[in-house]
Amino acid sequence: ATNRTFTMIKPDAFGAGNSGAILKMIEEAGFKIIALKATQLSAELAGQFYAVHKERPFYADLCAYMSSGPIIAAILEKENAVADFRTLIGATNPADAAEGTIRKLFATSIEANAVHGSDSDENAQIEGSFFFSSFERIG
Ligand code: CMP
Repeated sequence: ATNRTFTMIKPDAFGAGNSGAILKMIEEAGFKIIALKATQLSAELAGQFYAVHKERPFYADLCAYMSSGPIIAAILEKENAVADFRTLIGATNPADAAEGTIRKLFATSIEANAVHGSDSDENAQIEGSFFFSSFERIG
């Protein structure tokens, strides 16, 4: 069925000027852009977004990193959106990411890994609502 996922283009990829190339890959893979904005998270908001990782050793670094520069947030729609988007972006660690994936092409480290992609339909809904109200998205 058609469903939605949520993505961020992270500070490394935004700062390197790769946002356009990444959005082009996303559209060419068949995803429709339902909502889109450029913004910068505070460390506090990054901490709320990634609260599920609160107990992980990389949490503090991740919050600092994700608030270190501008990002792009977007909601995307496609058949099988969550799983297909995770295939398109590749493994969390770019060293493990398949050839041709967004992380293989643009990520620099396991932390600065170019893009985020939701890991479930439920989290896609929660994460999309974190950034966008109903009048900031299609449908
Ligand atoms: P993301 O898919 O946005 O979900 C959580 C993020 O935490 C992940 O991408 C990475 O940016 C970061 N991350 C995950 N694992 C590690 C790790 N082992 N060390 C540092 N950062 C990590």
